[in-house]
Order: sequence, then structure tokens, then C-alpha cells
Amino acid sequence: MSDSPVHVVILAAGKGTRMKSSVPKVLHRVAGVPMIDYVLSAAAPVAARSTTVVIGHGADAVREYLCRHSDLTFVVQEPQLGTGHALLATEPRLGREVGTLALLSGDVPLLTPDTLMRLVSTHRAAGAAATVVTAQLPDPAGYGRVLRSGQQIARIVEDRDATPEERAIREVNAGIYAFEIEGLFEALRRLAAANAQREYYLPDLVAAFVGAGRPVATVSAEADEIRGVNSRADLESASRLVRMRTNDALMASGVTLEDAATAYIERGVQIGPDTILHPHVSLEGATSIGSACEIHSGARIVNSRLGNRVVVHNHSVITDSIIEDDAQVGPFARLRSQAVVRPRARVGNFVEMKQTELGAGSKAMHLAYLGDSTIGERVNIGAGTITCNYDGERKQRTTIEDGAFIGSDTQLVAPVTVGRDAYVGTGTTVREDVPAGALAVSAGRQRNIEGWVDRRRRRREDPRS
Ligand code: UD1
Ligand code: CA
Repeated sequence: MSDSPVHVVILAAGKGTRMKSSVPKVLHRVAGVPMIDYVLSAAAPVAARSTTVVIGHGADAVREYLCRHSDLTFVVQEPQLGTGHALLATEPRLGREVGTLALLSGDVPLLTPDTLMRLVSTHRAAGAAATVVTAQLPDPAGYGRVLRSGQQIARIVEDRDATPEERAIREVNAGIYAFEIEGLFEALRRLAAANAQREYYLPDLVAAFVGAGRPVATVSAEADEIRGVNSRADLESASRLVRMRTNDALMASGVTLEDAATAYIERGVQIGPDTILHPHVSLEGATSIGSACEIHSGARIVNSRLGNRVVVHNHSVITDSIIEDDAQVGPFARLRSQAVVRPRARVGNFVEMKQTELGAGSKAMHLAYLGDSTIGERVNIGAGTITCNYDGERKQRTTIEDGAFIGSDTQLVAPVTVGRDAYVGTGTTVREDVPAGALAVSAGRQRNIEGWVDRRRRRREDPRS
């Protein structure tokens, strides 16, 4: 019996009215990740025989988001008549199965795999018809309350249907259960909708089973992990809890957070030991940062990879890019779309790089736009250098070979190549390739007109002169 199969069902069909959103509730992001992903990863260690997601409100969007999980089955609940009705919708799929059904709620994202495993093992050990996850909440408003007779759970009453005395109870229903499949759907079909919301309430199964003399067990969990997300305020609290968990794990692994309260680090971001994060940094998506790096305030790094000992100065924005060992970037730099900064290179203030590789030890310290370019090693890019990469129809590439020197205020009209060790004079518009070792200049000769200022002033004072 103890190794009977487990089938997981996730309820995600409800409207989520209190979110006031056109986006289905389970796709709202908690610390950057859609809520439903947390539920799926909490369920993963159960190694379920099958996983069914009940969808309804915004069904197409939810299904489309989850389509990369080939192991999920979708059941559409239409109309949505309550949580009991939602589970009943899975009968055609699961009605003939045997074993345990673990029921998770798409809007309870912080549940730990550990609690779920305890739910399944307690349920099996008790030989129960149903096992309910419960928790003590200091502020239980909005949740179903657990009514006990002696030690034994007797029934669950929803907040709206509760008497004032029942509302004072702090033990709440987490909305997460294990059920024995045998007899489950029969009991669901007998549920009535005699309550404030005229809905079929899944928690009513508790009283039904107890009344029929079938055992019902409970498993207790920490308050924080069973919090449901029903409003934007709940979403913010859940995000904060997730970020605290992430930050604590990072600090335990050797990362310094100067101010954990303002560090915004999404789940899944990897950071090596001895890296220091100053206040107000934002690290998002599939980002990895090596060891002994320093990330200064106001930096935002998204889907990017940083090597070791990289310094990102204040207010730099780095997306989909790579920065290798010992390089430095910023302040106020913008790297995007596969910018690659090779080891020891320097990118300074107000420099934008897009689909550009800056070779090892090269420098672009001030005010530049480097797009669609390949820049070799030990190159110096002067202040105000612009790659003119767009001819109005297509993007064209610029190549600057090792050791070249690009003087300030240069425009490189792509496609164009500056050869190895070549020198481009200040203020040059480079329209043709520059051979290796050559000097390119395009500005006209400077003329000085002696006494011009004086003559102009006299003309202004006496227009006839
Ligand atoms: C539910 C429980 C409550 C518990 C709380 C914990 C019921 C009646 N109440 O209340 O005892 O304390 O969760 O968070 O179950 N859903 C459907 N189809 C529907 C209705 C809901 O799939 O017809 C889904 C929702 O998308 C959601 C979940 O079921 O993921 C819970 O529904 P929700 O309306 O949020 O229930 P609560 O009022 O939070
Ligand atoms: Ca809820």
C-alpha cells in the first residue's frame, strides 16, 4: 500500500477576481517567476504517476504558458462552480485510477516539497480518506477555518460562512490535500452548494468523510509556506518571502549583500562566493555571476553571464550579454543583445554596446555607441565614437582589429574594417577600410581667420561699417 501511485492535480481555473487583472492569476509573477512554476517545482519530488492541471478562466493563456511541460494533462472546468466542482472535472481522467490524489492549489506558491512529501506519507500511514494541510495563522481572515472535535478534525468552514466564534480560530485550511481516489469522486458528486457563494466547496469533503466514518488526518505546515495569493498585496508579500529565502541561501553560500532588503535577486540567479552586492541591485532571469565580483548600486543585470572579479559600476543596465573575468563596466553603461566584453576590457560611462564583442584589454571609456561590431584586443575606442551600423535598410558590421586606436568623435560607417594597429585621427568619418598600420584622417585642414571676432563686433555696433 505504501508505494501506491500518486496522482497530482493542480487547481488553476478560478478567476482571481481580487487581482483585478486580465492575466490569469497563476501566471502572475512571484519574484519574477509565474506562480504556477513554483507549484510545479514543489510537486516534482513526488514523482507523480500523472499531473493534471484544471484550467478554465484564461485557459488558453495558461495552457500556452505550460505547453513546454509535455508531461502535464489539462482538464477544462467550464463554468467554474467552486473547488469541489473543479476536482470533479478530473473524474473522466482519474476516476478509474487507484492510489493517492495530491491536490494542490495554483495560488499557493510557497509550499515546500518537504511539506508535500509529509502530506503523502502521513496520509498513507494513517490510511486516511483525506488528509488536509493546515497552519496556524496570526491573521486567518479569508481562509477556511479548521474545526476540531477533540484532537480530530471535524469540518472546515469558509470565512464567509463562519460565525464570529469560528472566525476567531487561527488554524486554517491550506487548500492542499491528499485523497484516496477510491470513493473520492462519488463523495464529490454528493456535495451541495448550500453556502454564501453558491459554490461546491472541496473542504466540505472533510465533514462528509467524517460523517461516513472514514478517517481524515491533518498535517501542519509553517504559516509562510501556505499563504494563498488572492490580491496584489498577497503577491507582493509572497515575492518578498521568496526573495528572503533566496537572499538567505546566497549569504549562506558566501555572497555579501550589503542590504538584503533592497537587493532584488530572482530565484535561479547564481552568484559565486566573495561577490559583493551593494544596495539596490537587480539580478534577473537566467543570470550567473562569478566569484569576487562587485556590483554597485542601481545596476540591473538580466539573462547575462559575468565571469570572476568583474566590477559593474553604478546604474549600468546589462541584458543578454557576457562579461568575462576582470572586466569593468559602467557607471551608466548599457550592454544588450549579445554584447561580449572579453577579459580585462573596460567599458565606461554612457557607452552602449549591442551585438558587439570588445576584445581582451580593450577600452571604450566614454560616450560611445558600438553596434554590430567585432573589436579586437588592446583597442582604444575614443570618446564619442559611433558605429553607423544601420544604412536605413540593413544592419552592417564594423571590424576593428587588434591594437587599433580610434580617435575621439569618430564615425565608422559600416560595413567597414580598421586594420591591425591602424590609427584613426580625431573627428574622422571612416567610410572606407583602413589598412593595417595606416593613419586615417578625413577632416579638412583647419583655417584661422585673424581678427574675425573684433570685426564682427564692430559690424554689429555700426551696421554701415
Ligand atoms: C480556498 C479554500 C479555503 C482555504 C484557501 C487556502 C475552498 C472553498 N476554500 O479558498 O478553505 O483556506 O483556499 O488558500 O476551497 N479554483 C478552480 N475552480 C473554481 C474555483 C477555484 O480551479 O471553480 C481554483 C482557483 O483557481 C485557485 C484554487 O482553486 O487556484 C482556490 O480557489 P480560491 O477561489 O482562491 O479559494 P479561496 O477562497 O482562497
Ligand atoms: Ca485562494
